[in-house]
Amino acid sequence: MRIAVVGSGYVGLVTGACFADMGHEVVLVDNDEKKLAELRNGEVPIHERFLPELLARHRGQHIKFSGDLQAATRESEVVIIAVGTPPTESGDADLSYVESVAREISGGVDEYKVVVEKSTVPVYTSQWIRTIIMRNGTDPALFDVASNPEFLREGTAVTDFLYPDRIVVGVESDRAAEVMRQLYGPLTSGWYYGRGDAIPRPDAAKVPPRLIITSTKSAELIKHASNAFLAMKISFINAVASICESVGANVEQVSDGIGTDSRIGPQFMNPGIGYGGSCFPKDLLAFRAVAKESGYDFRLLEEVIRINEEQRHRFLRKVRSVLWTFRGKRLGVLGLAFKGGTDDIRESPALLLVQELLREGCHICAYDPAAMERAKEVLKSGVEFAGDAYEAATGADAVLILTEWEEFAALDLERLRTLVKYPIVLDGRNLYDPAVMVKHGFSYYSVGRPAALSEELPARAQPQKRERA
Ligand code: UGA
Repeated sequence: MRIAVVGSGYVGLVTGACFADMGHEVVLVDNDEKKLAELRNGEVPIHERFLPELLARHRGQHIKFSGDLQAATRESEVVIIAVGTPPTESGDADLSYVESVAREISGGVDEYKVVVEKSTVPVYTSQWIRTIIMRNGTDPALFDVASNPEFLREGTAVTDFLYPDRIVVGVESDRAAEVMRQLYGPLTSGWYYGRGDAIPRPDAAKVPPRLIITSTKSAELIKHASNAFLAMKISFINAVASICESVGANVEQVSDGIGTDSRIGPQFMNPGIGYGGSCFPKDLLAFRAVAKESGYDFRLLEEVIRINEEQRHRFLRKVRSVLWTFRGKRLGVLGLAFKGGTDDIRESPALLLVQELLREGCHICAYDPAAMERAKEVLKSGVEFAGDAYEAATGADAVLILTEWEEFAALDLERLRTLVKYPIVLDGRNLYDPAVMVKHGFSYYSVGRPAALSEELPARAQPQKRERA
């Protein structure tokens, strides 16, 4: 099929590259000429596994780049809107980019097309897109609007797209449903998975995926409700972790005991310093605003957000209770991205913590495998950037693990022990077994698990008092 994807941000770029790999002809449209030139030159603006391979495979052949949305619309059977929907001051999504794209699309609708909203948007957006396109003079018989929310995660975006748990398509006509079935046919028929050069299948992926057809409003709600539910799971386990700390229980054992109930499931049950990123924080605010608008006071979401913020403050209090005072302390910080596998620092709890520690007068030496360039634009002074985790830890009063990168879970602990000033590790992502850390001579503090103290630790670095929930 011939497809236009509007917006070359995270979702647009991955969507375009994956549809090209599924055998479609894709034109990726953006109004940023500089970005288009970089993409044409072979640059890949985001750190995402398999994306460089896919773009290299299809660039100039099955995927082209254009600044002309009307021409791209004319050439395409499906036009996918994947532009940003940033939060406004009040928390609801700013839909002005979506609106201006819809307006421009209307000038290119000369025969039947399906306009697909893939950006995360509030309920009713597809109706608005339809209204805007009609208002600008397009015959309503010449197009349908579908809602096709995207569930990809940063870091695993390509495999999430090609091996999804489910594909959700919201439509208002059989004709649009048929077009959307064809669009995803290479996945739902299993054809893609039989190809020798398919992107490798993740272990847990079940193929072929189920296609769920709903109304457009239901599809819009599915996206917001999914993200809200996942964020709620994280806040729930973080709240349980706080109780574990107070009573001396181990949240890992508790989450294992809860998550093995198949009705609950083990995923998104890792406690830590809270969720961040460009999706959960924004989508929770937007969903709360949608609920309010519809007359429902969704206070549960407020509590999810509150627990999430409190989680970061708790961790800061823990660092303080271990170090006693902050001013002049040298901290080795491992991780700046909002999660492992990405260079994205938007709403990163790691970065927010670093900023707070800097305000308290700490000296930070930080390392992140991918996010340092982006972090440098935000962290102007008081921070040194190291070439690896060991350099960051050298001479540190304490090492802080703030992002769940795989490489931080596989450090050479013997080597680390020889580099630090004091063998203290505060792990905001629970990457290590406390007993192993103590065996290597570290005092180790994590989230929701009892502190594991090494006998070698100088007495003055012991926590002054036990934290209260
Ligand atoms: C999230 C959703 O998982 C995707 O399904 C959705 O498509 C995407 O938002 C979106 O709306 O675009 P993403 O933000 O890329 O994806 O990252 P996640 O893997 O969900 O992680 C979000 C945050 O939660 C990270 O800060 C991570 O460290 C944290 N997290 C995750 C935990 O603290 N504990 C967990 O058990 C899991």
